[in-house]
Amino acid sequence: MREQLEKIKASAVAEIASANQLKDIEEIRVKYLGKKGELTAILKQMGSLSAEERPQMGQLVNSVKSELDCEIARCAERLKESAMQAKLLEETLDITMPAKKRTVGGLHPINVVTNDLIDIFQSMGFDVVDGPEVETDYYNFEALNVPADHPARDMQDTFFLNPNLLLRSQTSATQIRTMENRKPPIKIVCPGRVFRADEVDATHSPVFHQMEGLVVDKGITLCDLKGVLEQFAREIYGEDTKVKFRPSFFPFTEPSVEVDVSCSECGGKGCRVCKGSGWIEILGAGLVHPNVLRGCGIDPEEYSGFAFGIGIDRLAITRYKISDIRLLFENDLRFLEQF
Ligand code: DAH
Repeated sequence: MREQLEKIKASAVAEIASANQLKDIEEIRVKYLGKKGELTAILKQMGSLSAEERPQMGQLVNSVKSELDCEIARCAERLKESAMQAKLLEETLDITMPAKKRTVGGLHPINVVTNDLIDIFQSMGFDVVDGPEVETDYYNFEALNVPADHPARDMQDTFFLNPNLLLRSQTSATQIRTMENRKPPIKIVCPGRVFRADEVDATHSPVFHQMEGLVVDKGITLCDLKGVLEQFAREIYGEDTKVKFRPSFFPFTEPSVEVDVSCSECGGKGCRVCKGSGWIEILGAGLVHPNVLRGCGIDPEEYSGFAFGIGIDRLAITRYKISDIRLLFENDLRFLEQF
């Protein structure tokens, strides 16, 4: 029996030493120490021993058992450790690899200019309001003193969704919405997209941008308009900028003016940007027509106001010397990345 034990022990130890995987170790444990294991079988034979031999053998079997337990545990530990090492090695992070490039977007030049305009007018106390791009005929034309048969409609032919609904041809529509919703004093600007059924070329696009301005209060005159627009022109184009008012016509203002600024590129001498004239036309403006005020429930005897409409795309084009308005709408990254 003693010999048998020694043999079992020797072969178990050898097997443990050559185990490569955790599952081998488990098999070895079952083979020797399991219910039907070899060592367990020896224990079962103890009954046939004499009373003197039994405790000695019992001790021996137990010590072999605990030795094997120990060996197995140690080996399992070792295998677990090396499995972990292998896994770690496989999952190694190469921190020297270049990171994925993250591209950060920027503002479109139209938005840059719009934000600048908003800053300037907000600093003069104007609120910023918004208006719908799909408008009714009433807000876009009728209420702005442009009845159905008015020839001024020709210049602003736009896209109709039905005879009464259209894509707004001018941000001036928000003048009416504002006067209907607010009581004077009113001092607002409204930037936004406008639409016209224009043929596309280097200076025309069926979609473009305007910023409308409206001030209504007691005693507002053309002087107030001039003061605000001169301040605006100086902030956009520089301190030395000269402003010129030319008489013009808009159905919703009386008198009406068109406003030019001295060319910031050549200082007024004449160049490619100003097409030789020394001046750049930037906006239309005027004193709000009494019919328009009256239509919004504001008494023109008590209140007066001025309004203006700035062409934002025009401003962006002259500021950045962009040669073709279409570039603003193509969304070509090679163009947009320059701003
Ligand atoms: N809405 C005009 C246009 O699109 C521009 C304009 C002119 C706006 C005079 C105004 C204004 O508010 O008073 O051509």
